[in-house]
Amino acid sequence: MSSRRQTIVFALIATAVLPLTIAQGDPSPAYRPGLGDLMTMTVQPRHLKVGLALEHRNWAYAAFEVHELEEALEHVARLVPKWRDLDVAGLIKGSTTAPLEAMEEAVKAKDVARFNEAYGQLTAACNACHQSAKLEMIVIQVPKGGGPFANQDFRPGRP
Ligand code: HEC
Repeated sequence: MSSRRQTIVFALIATAVLPLTIAQGDPSPAYRPGLGDLMTMTVQPRHLKVGLALEHRNWAYAAFEVHELEEALEHVARLVPKWRDLDVAGLIKGSTTAPLEAMEEAVKAKDVARFNEAYGQLTAACNACHQSAKLEMIVIQVPKGGGPFANQDFRPGRP
């Protein structure tokens, strides 16, 4: 084949194949997790790990993980600012900021009692929001034991 012919054949193949590839679309469309996914994937495990860090008096790790939890909640507020009628962004800011800050201060002071109190307040904020969302069946607790999801109380009829 002459080089001119080769170019023509190549151009023909390219014009035929390229639009096909484009028409197939993005092979990996962005995964958009919903609020329940974000809670389960990012908020719940960090809430649990913060509790386990406290149980082991691992202050360095607690400082790191409280920050991660804070970021996870900020991320939720940004990605899902509203859920049904619920002002997710406003509720997160209004109810979790103070306990998270108190936890950060307690970590710096290595103050177990203060940390426990603030962690309890944060956990109460989780449940208060679930109750406002009429999701009172989702009950978060300070982890007991340490198995997977030890921070969720699965017994029925819990407040
Ligand atoms: C702004 C309100 C709000 C706050 C604060 C909040 N949540 Fe949620 N959470 C929700 C809503 C609403 C859902 C249900 C979302 C859905 O079904 O798509 C949910 C769902 C969940 C779920 C999924 C339940 C399951 O078993 O699948 C878990 C776990 C959870 N939240 C944990 C937490 C933890 C831990 C905290 C506190 C650190 C917290 N949430 C704070 C509103 C909130």
